[in-house]
Amino acid sequence: MKFRSIKGTHDILPGEVHRWQFAEEAVRSAMHSFNYLEIRTPAFEETALFSRSIGELTDIVGKEMYTFADRSGTSLTLKPEMTASVIRAYIQNNLGEQQPLVKVYYIAPMFRQERPQAGRLRQFHQFGAEAIGSAGPAVDAEIIALSARVYESLGLRNFAVRINSVGCRECRPAYRKLLTGYLRERRDQLSEESLRRLEQNPLRILDSKDEGDRRATKDAPLMIEHLGPECSGHFEGLKSMLSAAGVTYEIDGRIVRGLDYYTKTAFEITSSDLGSQDALAGGGRYDLLVKDLGGKDTPAVGFAAGMERLLMAMEKQPHDANEPPHPTVFIASADEKARELVASLVLKLRSKGLATESDLLGRSLKSQLREANRQNSDRLIVIGSEEIEKNRVTVRGLLSKDEFSIPLDRVADELPSRLKEK
Ligand code: HAM
Repeated sequence: MKFRSIKGTHDILPGEVHRWQFAEEAVRSAMHSFNYLEIRTPAFEETALFSRSIGELTDIVGKEMYTFADRSGTSLTLKPEMTASVIRAYIQNNLGEQQPLVKVYYIAPMFRQERPQAGRLRQFHQFGAEAIGSAGPAVDAEIIALSARVYESLGLRNFAVRINSVGCRECRPAYRKLLTGYLRERRDQLSEESLRRLEQNPLRILDSKDEGDRRATKDAPLMIEHLGPECSGHFEGLKSMLSAAGVTYEIDGRIVRGLDYYTKTAFEITSSDLGSQDALAGGGRYDLLVKDLGGKDTPAVGFAAGMERLLMAMEKQPHDANEPPHPTVFIASADEKARELVASLVLKLRSKGLATESDLLGRSLKSQLREANRQNSDRLIVIGSEEIEKNRVTVRGLLSKDEFSIPLDRVADELPSRLKEK
């Protein structure tokens, strides 16, 4: 019987992992330059944490969570997103008592049982950030600028920042009533899915991809046209701060996020280099969540972005990338007698931090040399009875073609510094 990975999950193989590490380094560097510290939370949490924060009626909670009872009967769920986990950790560890504004970031795997397609997986990876403790639009602007910074720093150009405000508990109910009335009059044009949403979550109908829904909602009232004075002032503040920060953005009154916790700012970053799953990142403000989860009334804002989608977008245009790691030195044994000496020399060089490789498969000298080239080793040393007898080896560059010789018994001491000089 042959086992295969579960549908919608992927192995990240040794030949491609350097691309991930390169992107992760860019994420970390952007996060640190904005003074965000990393937080790591467990892979699973109590199910109720997610249903309460993301919302019982959302697709994520209703259809997509990996939920199971553990052996003691507790209902657990693999993280479908990080925000709920971060807020749980924030409350549990009293992070807000240590400082008034807590700024954290993460890079972690998430799990959602969605229909797999390009850019949509069941185990995917998100990077993201949460800033907990400030109500003002300056933090919203910082979060948006930070997310855009990651893409800019990787040389991506074909992305757009789209912002909206989804109002708050004060102004949203009246708007919702208005929208529901508008949509009820156009019931016959709505898709089945939207009819189901009409009474429970009518705002989601605005971002439906169905043609009929799109026609029906073409002139629908939008939340940004009906914001109360506080939300409207916040949105104006955000716009001017983004402009001051030099972040190019569009206003898109149809952004309705797929999670229920948002208040005021909601935003997405989309890429024209991706197919139908074009959202690189999404986020917004969630001022009620900390209190809803049992903490003090604390405003917060954040974003999360798909790593796989970032890597897909990077593939579509030229960008900097790092080389896969390779040995600095390959030491080949010219005969059987040299093998033991080579093995101990390899260990000595490795302990000095030099990436060193040798043959472990008993191969002929010729195929050892082929292997050194295949592995893109920078240098090659061949050791045999002649080198041992004369106490002298030649260090040959495989790409550079330069070479020098040193005493065999000085290799471990001298080679690392000799190579550093080069
Ligand atoms: P989200 O929009 O559900 O938001 O996910 C954010 C990003 O994760 C998406 O834009 C997409 O790039 C990626 N993503 C989501 N689902 C998948 C999937 N099945 N396969 C591949 N990539 C996917 C959140 O998760 C919120 N927690 C964001 C947030 C943070 N809001 C405030 N703070």
